Amino acid sequence: MKDTNITHDELSFDEFDEINSPRTEDPQFDAVVDAAISRRGFLSGVLTFGAGTFVMGTSSLVNVAEAATDRFGFKQVAASTDDTISVPEGYKWDMLVKWGDPLWSDAPEFDEATRGTAASQLRAFGDNNDGMSMFAIGNRHVLVANNEYTNRPIIYGNRDSKLPETPDDVAKGKAAHGVTVAEVHKVGENWEVIKDSPLNRRITADTPMELTGPAAGHDLLKTSADPSGTQSLGTWNNCGNGETPWGTYLACEENFNGYFSSSDKEMELPQRFKRYGIGHDDWGYNWAMTDERFDISKNPNEPNRAGYVVEIDPTDPTSTPKKRTALGRFKHENADVVVAPNGKIVVYMGDDERGEFLYRYVSNGYYAEGGDTEDLLTDGILYAAKFTDDQRGEWLALTPETTGLSQAEICIHTRQAASIVGATTMDRPEWVTHNPTQIEAYVALTNNKNRGVKPNKGGDATPVDGPNPRAENKYGQILRWVPDMQDHANDAFSWDIFALAGNPDVHDDEYAGSPNINSGNMFNSPDGISFDSKGLLWIQTDGKYSNEGDFAGMGNNQMLVGDPATGEIRRFLVGPKEAEITGIAWSADRKTAFVGVQHPGEKGNSHFPNGGTSVPRSGIVAISRADNQPIG
Ligand code: FEO
Ligand code: CA
Ligand code: CA
Ligand code: CA
Repeated sequence: MKDTNITHDELSFDEFDEINSPRTEDPQFDAVVDAAISRRGFLSGVLTFGAGTFVMGTSSLVNVAEAATDRFGFKQVAASTDDTISVPEGYKWDMLVKWGDPLWSDAPEFDEATRGTAASQLRAFGDNNDGMSMFAIGNRHVLVANNEYTNRPIIYGNRDSKLPETPDDVAKGKAAHGVTVAEVHKVGENWEVIKDSPLNRRITADTPMELTGPAAGHDLLKTSADPSGTQSLGTWNNCGNGETPWGTYLACEENFNGYFSSSDKEMELPQRFKRYGIGHDDWGYNWAMTDERFDISKNPNEPNRAGYVVEIDPTDPTSTPKKRTALGRFKHENADVVVAPNGKIVVYMGDDERGEFLYRYVSNGYYAEGGDTEDLLTDGILYAAKFTDDQRGEWLALTPETTGLSQAEICIHTRQAASIVGATTMDRPEWVTHNPTQIEAYVALTNNKNRGVKPNKGGDATPVDGPNPRAENKYGQILRWVPDMQDHANDAFSWDIFALAGNPDVHDDEYAGSPNINSGNMFNSPDGISFDSKGLLWIQTDGKYSNEGDFAGMGNNQMLVGDPATGEIRRFLVGPKEAEITGIAWSADRKTAFVGVQHPGEKGNSHFPNGGTSVPRSGIVAISRADNQPIG
């Protein structure tokens, strides 16, 4: 049901989607709840007292009282609600770059009063940075960062309506989205953007892109502006990221639906729109005001040209980004690339929506250093994960034979294809990451208030099950799997839960969390996860920061480090108010960790990083050790 009294200003991005998305009917409601309740008792026993069945065994957990020597090398940071960054004793942080900082010397500094114009934003770092990579190109450091979205009350804080009011306002918003490429270097103690570097580039919602892979040229991708179905404009809502072994960047289009609207409010919405949350109204961006591409009654195929993984070459600012339809169309979180033992390219990907799926892509061709890589992300097979309660799972191929859809349709209507084969509905798959020191992969399942309550938008049931073991899951969990035969291209795997987030101060049932969660390190809604070179798992959160009730004692969103060998988790960083911590990258010498701070003050209560009465600005911080030793 649509509640028109609630605006995006008061809600997180996904809360808004939940309220405003067209939804399917709910005929299976009672059956799903029955299934959830009957199994809940069984699973809660396992989770609380289990001997290493679903959650990792407690016997290997080290005492969390910190030993002087351990793999972490830092003392835990306390939870905090301060409007700043907290890092461990012996570490320091600085801002590298913030929303609106110019990338070229001909662009003005950020204007607090106007919050910029379309012209200034096109020449400046975008808003709400998310996934990022740091490429070493020769002896240069080149940062590539997603600029996921904008908070309208902040970017349009100069307008009484807090909305885009003019065509220039809309253009400013479009320019604040996309991807930023910026060369950076260390000057004395601090990292800085190199203004005017020939590698600096802004990619926005209007940058020409090529559509590649099985869906390219299909009728569903053709529009009046592009009758070939092979050229599209722009990328937006880029969430997490990936990197290929051949040195390119992958930007992942997530909540692409929130930018489309219909000037014809009577327009019938097909199920293929409803599945992706495409409706009559956008989320307040009003891009259709100046660009008919975003009016679905005039251009009904335009939404089919978004929701992909986009490959970008950071070494060539004139290169055309390529949308890789072979990797499927859904609300892409990130893209974790691994090379299988035989050289095939494996890409793990989450679809971040309640009850959607976990995916894998396996190339048909083989990677060889220095070889031709063009076909590796255009020609391959997509799979969706099916988990069973015996801690086993398999990757179900999405092919014309298994789905009854053409190869192009599988790449465009990927959610429907995965529903057809009976993949497991998940608790909002966010980032996937693989351990570089042993053959295993992890996914953050951030939370899912609908688990055991109602089906996903395709009508697939969401019973409480092994990898999604709690009804109305408010805290999230981190799941891991080990592929059979030590091969990420193998179709079978075993799984367990690395951490069930929870609050042991408030709950004594399964909501207390797994044994490696305690009063000192508790958190909710794991989202960004990434391994460092030593095989430690960095965990970033995008959760509730009320610090009350179920979330008492957790403070602001944070970043922790987990040790896969012992299960121990220790808090490394706490972010400012009303922010999420997302995106991590390292300098070539591993002495600096770059960490993203997104949407500080999304509900109006932060002045990070400049303090006083300044406009809150998302940005990237550089963290290093006072003794100049490597971090990750
Ligand atoms: Fe943009 Fe699923 O986070
Ligand atoms: Ca995320
Ligand atoms: Ca999230
Ligand atoms: Ca986010």
